[in-house]
Amino acid sequence: MSDYKLAVLAGDGIGPEVMVEAKKVLAAVSKKFDINFELNDYDVGGIAIDNHGQALPPETLKGCEEASAILFGSIGGPKWDSLPLEQRPERAALLALRGHFDLFSNLRPAKIYPGLEALSPLRADIAASGFDVLVVRELTSGIYFGQPKGMEGEGEEEFAFDTMRYSRKEIRRIAITAFEAAQKRGKKVTSVDKANVLVCSRLWREVTEEVAKDYPDVELEHIYIDNAAMQLLRYPNQFDVMLCSNLFGDIISDECAMITGSMGLLPSASINGSKFGMYEPAGGSAPDIAGQGIANPIAQILSASMLLRFSLGETDAADAIDAAVMKTLSDGVLTGELLAPEKRDQAKSTSEVGDYVVAQIV
Ligand code: NAD
Ligand code: IPM
Ligand code: MN
Repeated sequence: MSDYKLAVLAGDGIGPEVMVEAKKVLAAVSKKFDINFELNDYDVGGIAIDNHGQALPPETLKGCEEASAILFGSIGGPKWDSLPLEQRPERAALLALRGHFDLFSNLRPAKIYPGLEALSPLRADIAASGFDVLVVRELTSGIYFGQPKGMEGEGEEEFAFDTMRYSRKEIRRIAITAFEAAQKRGKKVTSVDKANVLVCSRLWREVTEEVAKDYPDVELEHIYIDNAAMQLLRYPNQFDVMLCSNLFGDIISDECAMITGSMGLLPSASINGSKFGMYEPAGGSAPDIAGQGIANPIAQILSASMLLRFSLGETDAADAIDAAVMKTLSDGVLTGELLAPEKRDQAKSTSEVGDYVVAQIV
């Protein structure tokens, strides 16, 4: 029997709804594989502002520090949008956690599974050509974290500024993550940048090429972000690992999620080379559908699977979850956003999808 302490931060909007399903799935693998989870819930994001006056209360951070890994839901919503940027859930909780634990490496695996091409909004022949991409996104630097940022001046002369900065060290460590991942996959890294305009991207290219010399079995290509966004829709099968800076990876990963069918399908792992990590859906709190029981729980469930695989080394349990999700999708047990409008009457609820996944495991 293995024992693990996990910090569970469900957050806002659909976060708590999909987290219930991920917990059901963890309970199922706990039973089947004799793994003991101590799941400790903590407030984070908007709910934490409401209950404790801050988005990342000290007890939440302490709970995360004491855990083997964090399972994170999603945070933010209209109720907290008018707060100053530094108090908003996104910055004060999510970015703060990423920075605090130095989770510089964000892995977002997106795939059209054979047989599930119809879920993709791409033209049938393009979806059938295949899509299996790992977005490797730098997560603790770039324009999200660069200083200074702020506003100065007055009236029409008032201006706002953010700073994009990357050190060689920061680029090198995320590039290494991408090349090592590519060695275990399709042996190709596409580095996404804007080197025709940005100095940061020039350095990004230079360092990426240096790193590539240590991985002669992996092909490196460079692509501009605008072209990458277009090529993903034109011929998505040309990509294997997409290496991105923080902002470009944010944008590209939403596109990759939608290519597979929905924002609600894409999990992510935020790691730093140690065993510790934070695992969360790539999508957000989806205020437009929150509270209706219709959110897709798959990204949250697959995030739990990534946690088991990367932080706990519980490969059998992770494999069982992935297989159960595949079976659920291929059996057509789908939330509404994955269905054509005329088929929405066949949509399953969040909990029906979660129950079906669980039924494939026990
Ligand atoms: P979003 O990802 O929440 O929603 C975008 C669209 O995708 C919406 O139409 C939503 O209904 C849909 N969607 C997302 N997840 C889904 C799911 N599981 N099932 C079905 N449909 C799903 O992005 P947004 O609307 O731009 O942001 C809403 C809030 O979430 C904002 O406050 C934003 O800052 C925050 N956000 C948080 C995280 C996070 O906590 N990790 C990530 C992204 C956005
Ligand atoms: C994501 C989210 C976050 C990001 C926001 C909520 C700060 O969009 O995890 O993709 O931009 O990193
Ligand atoms: Mn995002």
